[in-house]
Amino acid sequence: MLEIKDLTVRFGGLVAVDNLSMKVEKGVIHSLIGPNGAGKSTVFNAICGLVKSTGKVEIEGHDISKLPAFKRSNFGIGRSFQNIVIFKYMTILENLMVGYHIKTNYGIWDQIFKTEKKKIYEEKAWKRAVDVADILGLKNKLGLFAGNLPYGIQKLVDVGRALMVEPKILLLDEPAAGLTEVETQNLKNALVKLKNMGLTILLVEHDMNLVMDISEKITVLNFGKKIAEGRPDEIRNNKEVIKAYLGDEAYA
Ligand SMILES: Nc1ncnc2c1ncn2[C@@H]1O[C@H](COP(=O)(O)OP(=O)(O)OP(=O)(O)O)[C@@H](O)[C@H]1O
Ligand SMILES: [Mg+2]
Repeated sequence: MLEIKDLTVRFGGLVAVDNLSMKVEKGVIHSLIGPNGAGKSTVFNAICGLVKSTGKVEIEGHDISKLPAFKRSNFGIGRSFQNIVIFKYMTILENLMVGYHIKTNYGIWDQIFKTEKKKIYEEKAWKRAVDVADILGLKNKLGLFAGNLPYGIQKLVDVGRALMVEPKILLLDEPAAGLTEVETQNLKNALVKLKNMGLTILLVEHDMNLVMDISEKITVLNFGKKIAEGRPDEIRNNKEVIKAYLGDEAYA
């Protein structure tokens, strides 16, 4: 589904992502983990074309690494951001519909004259929002203001917004951060459901129980470099990984 080859991202003298190669197979949940500052969010930004990078990013065999960000979403990438941006004074329905803007195909004249084209677009966005809400169990909350809802629901809305473009691959950056145990369980069910519907998910997450529970494969970054990759049971006991998280003193 997604293949990254020799991806490097530099910020001045800092090499945030260092010659990373990895493959995300279709229809799996693949997690990208590592200590703070390891380069995980930067990998997402590079996939989406939001930072300058060298190397290749391929979606289903298409090299998208030279394309500007707005063209990359056409290849079926949906993403959420680490710092949740939710419109508090908008309803869940409206928040979801914002995620559809990328598919906008009408111009200023359609807007002014409220043309048929605009009507069809809005109807499609509305239908998709209802479908997405249904998948995430938010259907009975569509009319509520997002700002009044528990954080766990807001994070689900954030995931939902990324789903609006009907992505083939969903990039989620710490969707469980700040969630209670029950909310995390809810999120977990939603992610497994999406996977079972055929979606591929690349997950950045610090909640190790969640990662170990739902991932088919895990890639571990430290200082921008891949230090391990494998199934959860392989990663759990990997010495390099334990060292990266706990430091050398873990072996003292
Ligand atoms: N726009 C930027 N300009 C300069 N340095 C940056 C920029 N974005 C990230 N960095 C640096 O790149 C490194 C990797 O950051 P990144 O946000 O990708 O880490 P992360 O693995 O997502 O960490 P966290 O788990 O804390 O979210 C860090 O040292 C960070 O300070
Ligand atoms: Mg990050």
